[in-house]
Amino acid sequence: MDPLCKMKWWQKAVFYQIYPRSFADGNGDGIGDFAGIISKLDYLQDLGIDAIWLSPHYPSPNFDCGYDISDYTGVAEEFGNLALFQEFLEGAHQRGMGVILDMVLNHTSNQHPWFQESCSSRDNAKRDWYIWRDGRPGGPPNNWNSPFGGSAWEWDEHTGQYYYHFFFKEQPDLNWRNPEVKEAMFSAVRFWLDRGVDGYRLDAIGTIYEHPDMPDHPVAMSGTELRRELEKAETPERRHELLCLWKEMEKYQVEQPGMHELMQELRGVIDEYDDKLLIGEDEKIAYHGDGTNELHMVFNFPLIRTEVLTPNWIRNNQAQRIKALEKISREAWPCNTLGNHDSPRIWTRYGDGKHNAEQARLFLALMLTLKGTPFLYNGEEIGMTDLYLDDISQFRDTLGLLYYQAQVNELGLMPLDALQRAARLTRDKNRTPMQWDNTANAGFCPEGTVPWLPVNPDFAMGVNVQEQETDRQSLLNFYRNLLKLRKSIPALIAGGYEVYHPRNPRILSFLRQIPGQTCLVALNFSAEKAGLYLPDVPGEIKVWFSSENTSCEIRPGKQIRLGPFGMVIVELL
Ligand code: NOJ
Repeated sequence: MDPLCKMKWWQKAVFYQIYPRSFADGNGDGIGDFAGIISKLDYLQDLGIDAIWLSPHYPSPNFDCGYDISDYTGVAEEFGNLALFQEFLEGAHQRGMGVILDMVLNHTSNQHPWFQESCSSRDNAKRDWYIWRDGRPGGPPNNWNSPFGGSAWEWDEHTGQYYYHFFFKEQPDLNWRNPEVKEAMFSAVRFWLDRGVDGYRLDAIGTIYEHPDMPDHPVAMSGTELRRELEKAETPERRHELLCLWKEMEKYQVEQPGMHELMQELRGVIDEYDDKLLIGEDEKIAYHGDGTNELHMVFNFPLIRTEVLTPNWIRNNQAQRIKALEKISREAWPCNTLGNHDSPRIWTRYGDGKHNAEQARLFLALMLTLKGTPFLYNGEEIGMTDLYLDDISQFRDTLGLLYYQAQVNELGLMPLDALQRAARLTRDKNRTPMQWDNTANAGFCPEGTVPWLPVNPDFAMGVNVQEQETDRQSLLNFYRNLLKLRKSIPALIAGGYEVYHPRNPRILSFLRQIPGQTCLVALNFSAEKAGLYLPDVPGEIKVWFSSENTSCEIRPGKQIRLGPFGMVIVELL
């Protein structure tokens, strides 16, 4: 039987993340919207992706760029309305693409009517929908931090208590131990499923529960001090040590008991519908349950917790990840990504400055050949790069703005130094508008309109869709070709993963195998030519793909030679 037939749609799919504010502006106000996305659905279909992950599209005061939701069943005015959302969803479906939405369960916006009510008095009906506590003499209830800076507690003058927020104070945490909260959120989950969406990416899922007794964490340093130490850390060992301390600091705020039960309930909700997907944003593999009863997938973030992608790093990551998943069950499925709206652009982060174009191709080949579902981020297909903003008034990410203020006000840095640091930290750099062509504003919005974030000027140097569409050698066409190729090689989609030459420092090579088809993938992560011996391959070799920029020679049973950052996908016959 064809192994693909047994697979779920999301196991076979390649996902593409759309950051709606930055994708395409259909009404000329400088902000991406549904009209814009709808106009690009053909582009996405031609690209060859199978499903879309849409970052939040709900009404929001945008303190955290949409991850602070003020109405879970609405559409942000600047993005359109429910009818346009529906048109987008149907348009995607008609073109054979699934759509999953972003669901932020941990917290709401402080502008959400639930929180407004919760703040109004101590005895209102929604008081217990959020986490309120009395302070200790002179300060908050405990020493917990927010990873976004400062204490995790905010004083409310009006009712004389503190409320808890894992992220910004404008994002108060919901009290998931209150059954009414659960019901209200589950009904929001159903709302979009009833409209036909194919599942959810669950934001920050591990932070849903806090330790019920809320004890102090045991780390003597404050969060701010620890963050400063991290910035100063010069060796990977010191960084690692500090990150362990960070984990220790958060130990009562994340991954608390009760998570599995809650994930099972949520799975129950989405299993009321046919074939829907839940993918969790979390570091750990923890929430797969028995493989069939919690989340379907959890992002493989450990893969990108490095500044240099090497074969050894990737091999270790895959070995750990796949082993852990296999322990859970055969149903637990991996997924891989190299970038998203929170992390630097792949081109900038992992490129060496000299071979970025070859490396971008290599990284895509990695994503499309590893075992698991790949997630791509809009703009990576044309090699979009990070844009370091040079004017603080252009910043939109509160994280960057707060960081800038702290550098100036607390550390006494000169504004220009602070600006340069903040420009590298802010997530604005990797959220700039999609570059569609070589006209004003890169075709994202009309000439004369000011886009919500500046357009990266490299659009005029070939980093745009239109020019790359007509260039057969472009990165965009490489994406299209490789995405198409993946669909024609079932072993790459359904096959097992087995490392080949486990100690080769330059070449990452592995076998992907289904009954009747064995493929060997070899990716040269170095800037030098490198060879791979195939002593145990007696038969013929069929080359499915080899990079053009390399002198890849394949002699059956002998060796593969790869040029700098070269790659090859072969079938062993
Ligand atoms: C994770 C999201 O990806 C990020 O953008 C957001 O700031 C936090 N969760 C809080 O919702």
